[in-house]
Amino acid sequence: MRTQVGIVGAGPAGLLLSHLLHLQGIESVILESRSREEIEGTIRAGVLEQGTVDLLTESGLGARMKREGQVHHGIYLRVGGRSHRINMHELTGGRAVTVYAQHEVIKDIVAARLADGGQIIFNVKNVSLHDLESTTPKIHFEQDDKKVELSCEFIAGCDGYHGVARQSIPAEKRKEYVRQYPFGWLGILANAPTSSAELIYAYHEKGFALVSTRSPKIQRLYIQCEPTDPIGNWPDNRIWDELHARLEGNDGYQLIEGPVTQKGIVAMRSFVCETMQHGRLFLAGDSAHIVPPTGAKGLNLAAADVRVLSRALNAFFKSGQTEMLERYSTTCLKRVWRAEHFSWWMTSMLHRAPGDDDFQQRIQCSQLEYVVSSRSAATSLAENYVGMPINEAEETI
Ligand code: FAD
Ligand code: DHB
Repeated sequence: MRTQVGIVGAGPAGLLLSHLLHLQGIESVILESRSREEIEGTIRAGVLEQGTVDLLTESGLGARMKREGQVHHGIYLRVGGRSHRINMHELTGGRAVTVYAQHEVIKDIVAARLADGGQIIFNVKNVSLHDLESTTPKIHFEQDDKKVELSCEFIAGCDGYHGVARQSIPAEKRKEYVRQYPFGWLGILANAPTSSAELIYAYHEKGFALVSTRSPKIQRLYIQCEPTDPIGNWPDNRIWDELHARLEGNDGYQLIEGPVTQKGIVAMRSFVCETMQHGRLFLAGDSAHIVPPTGAKGLNLAAADVRVLSRALNAFFKSGQTEMLERYSTTCLKRVWRAEHFSWWMTSMLHRAPGDDDFQQRIQCSQLEYVVSSRSAATSLAENYVGMPINEAEETI
């Protein structure tokens, strides 16, 4: 088998890259280790930055997102039982986020790729990458127990944090930066009416809580928990008790309960791999970097990476220009580190870590007080949350 760009992984990064390349007349093949049903059913992120929404819309993927997504102009920070609104729209000159689930984005791109004759090979096994420093890098994999070789001009490693692509860069050529957090998030989906018109990020001595949404009838809620806690330790009534305790105060705010349809626990880490490229291999999304979910940046960074990569590959295929490809890692890492800092900062401000003392609690409360009372501090949060503007000059050199 032969293609221009071999893509490992059909997450948001791999799928969107394949779609953007197709719009530029560049052929790709996506190899995915899971089934279509699994990738379309995995519940993850939900907040799309303005830039991600614009990219999906401009590339013809925005129709259902526009109908079913919810545009949010602000968020609430809740502390001491009181909510404080950050008016992102006003503070950022009219920008906003859209709440639209990651698996719906995935469904939309898979449908578009298949309608356009795109090739996504599901359920592949034993993927390995070869000859990355040559002009014909290869991907070996197994499909229906048969060994296959895919010969490419470029390979995109979009196979997430646990994938094989990053490991294919020789260890001495990459440096990995890691921060592990001593807590995780328990996330649920509940069939309940909306409890808040905008997302609530709540600081509480019992730990962080987050109210998000999926539709007027389905809500997405999170609480800070121990990262290694078995989900069996969390019967529904314990989850609701914690949510009520962390979210309700004396101001009359009430969380509305409903049947829990899905629940899971994720550990939290910050991670960056420098470099994001080696020979003809380019990493994009979670394969190169992870953020704790508090800033809602993971999916958005994946989209930003593949936007840069698709443009760089287009410049190469259309005019043989290699400068953008050479600068790929440098270009992406600027945005990555901004998001890493923001996600770490939001996480540090809003979570209680085991062993935190009273000094730490006062520091966090002072920071929250500052963010909700200073227009400058609120603007800083808002511009990072809606997503820093894309620097066209940097991306086109
Ligand atoms: P992924 O979505 O991980 O996609 C990688 C794909 O590659 C997967 O489909 C995988 O099956 C496939 N793959 C892996 N290895 C191989 C292989 N060897 N061969 C072939 N295919 C392979 N972000 C937020 O902003 N908010 C959240 O609430 C949030 N919750 C999350 C919950 C979980 C459990 C996880 C794991 C992540 C969460 N994130 C969240 C982060 C966000 O979902 C990711 O940043 C986003 O999915 C990144 O997209 P990606 O395409 O880079 O990687
Ligand atoms: C959601 C996830 C996040 O990580 C976040 O910060 C806000 C909302 C969500 O799944 O809706």
